[in-house]
Amino acid sequence: MIHSSEMEKEERILTFIESMSAGNTVLLNEMEKKALAEGIPIIRPQTQSLIRFLLAAERPMRILEVGTATGFSACLMHTYAPEGAKIVTIERDQERAKRARENFALAGAADDITLLEGDAAEILGTLKGRFDFIFMDAAKGQYIHFLPEVLRLLELQGILLTDNIFKGGEILSSRFAVKRRDRTIHSRMREYLEALRNNEEMQTLLLQEGDGAAVSVRVKPAEDKI
Ligand SMILES: C[S@@+](CC[C@H](N)C(=O)[O-])C[C@H]1O[C@@H](n2cnc3c(N)ncnc32)[C@H](O)[C@@H]1O
Repeated sequence: MIHSSEMEKEERILTFIESMSAGNTVLLNEMEKKALAEGIPIIRPQTQSLIRFLLAAERPMRILEVGTATGFSACLMHTYAPEGAKIVTIERDQERAKRARENFALAGAADDITLLEGDAAEILGTLKGRFDFIFMDAAKGQYIHFLPEVLRLLELQGILLTDNIFKGGEILSSRFAVKRRDRTIHSRMREYLEALRNNEEMQTLLLQEGDGAAVSVRVKPAEDKI
């Protein structure tokens, strides 16, 4: 059990970390504000910092995102990836996809971002070539089903970033302490993290950033030919 003084300390640390963050461009700040006002679930500031850092360290030229929403994180990645980097992003909600296209045009990123509309469960299997950065930010319960295709598509030394792994802390609870309707997602997320941990081709680090993030690096080549 966490005492309130410990929680206060954690909050103060979080506030300090955020105040030390470099922040985003004005355009991204506006996009973020708009998305939040409309209740679009976009990545939190800590995850944004993590992505900016990983892109600076990894310098990926081919990026894949599962879960575009209205394109905030794709625009963020476009802003902080090396010039000439190409992004493929997948979204199944038509209205959000439309809004994302508008945002890509606004950000001058339309030539570098390809939006694929439809269910990632079907689209991932059709993708060719490898990506050196993959951002998984769609329906949490589906990550375990996406994993084989995502791993097939990940380049050697490439990074797979998975967002929201803690699901607001629920992942720490026993399966039975979680509300019935959330149990499937809970057990599938655990299954996903265990699959990453047990995969000898990958090294995975779990971080507290945002709602929890898993950063996985491919350390051995994928066996499948693509
Ligand atoms: C958390 S939001 C993505 C936020 C976005 N990455 C950002 O930070 O700006 C998750 C999105 O994934 C989409 N999604 C969920 N499951 C999907 C699937 N199987 N295929 C394609 N899109 C999916 C949802 O429609 C939703 O818009």
